[in-house]
Amino acid sequence: MKLKGKIALITGGSSGIGKATAQLFIQEGAQVIITGRDKITLDHTVQELGHHTIGIVTDAGSMKDLMHLNEELRQYTSHLDIVFVNAGFGKYAPLELIDEVHYEEMFNTIVRGTLFTVQQVLPLMTNNSAIVLNTSIVTEVGMPNSSVYSAAKSAVQSFTKTFASELISRGIRVNAVSPGPIQTNYFDRSNLSKEQVDSFTTSFAPQVPIQRFGLASEVAEAVMFLASEAASFIVGTELSVDGGFPKIKTK
Ligand SMILES: NC(=O)c1ccc[n+]([C@@H]2O[C@H](COP(=O)([O-])OP(=O)(O)OC[C@H]3O[C@@H](n4cnc5c(N)ncnc54)[C@H](OP(=O)(O)O)[C@@H]3O)[C@@H](O)[C@H]2O)c1
Repeated sequence: MKLKGKIALITGGSSGIGKATAQLFIQEGAQVIITGRDKITLDHTVQELGHHTIGIVTDAGSMKDLMHLNEELRQYTSHLDIVFVNAGFGKYAPLELIDEVHYEEMFNTIVRGTLFTVQQVLPLMTNNSAIVLNTSIVTEVGMPNSSVYSAAKSAVQSFTKTFASELISRGIRVNAVSPGPIQTNYFDRSNLSKEQVDSFTTSFAPQVPIQRFGLASEVAEAVMFLASEAASFIVGTELSVDGGFPKIKTK
């Protein structure tokens, strides 16, 4: 058991990558606290995960919720060994159609959410603990309609290095996973229509050298590695979990 006795917070743990990571952490002996906005989904996931999993309803895009996170966490634990800052979603639009709401939704959840989640959990983090952020391959390749989402994830990519440099002296290692296209509820919960999602999925999969979308469990394995002692000398790094896209070409 690689995480025996560890206490982990996973934001956005009620679905997809966060939920798969919670499952793996529990399997490896950790106690897990997950967050999400939708109480029904969160309660359902807490029940499904079992093993005394705790769910906290909180919106990573809300400053009010972020400022209460520390207090809420303290109801359940006096410390955290691992934090996976994963909560997020994507909105897509061509440049001409981007409005303030689109911009604020992305930057509030992804940039503000990541920054203040880390700030608020810091007093709970022990010496020899780990933070894993969630970026995306969109930081490495220009993709149409993703200006705001990509810019927000690029800020998280930058946080990976700056947070790492600030926190390593406190014994906190900061790293990130950078997922490629992963089969989760992500695309269904974006603002894309079912037809757009289907067409994107069909055209995108052949561009991935490994010829498929990844699984949430495959990202979870990378998060586990970065959060565990196995990565004790790894600091400020982004680990790609992307089937080779967009780094290598097969044709
Ligand atoms: N799937 C991909 O292809 C892919 C690729 C690269 C990066 N990512 C990143 O991976 C992360 C997880 O996405 P996923 O693919 O696992 O999608 P998902 O299946 O839709 O899961 C997203 C999770 O985040 C939570 N969430 C969303 N907005 C939140 C907010 N403002 N506050 C708190 N919780 C929030 C959701 O719960 P509620 O809706 O109830 O809040 C849910 O638990 C995101 O940061 C996403 O940008 C995904």
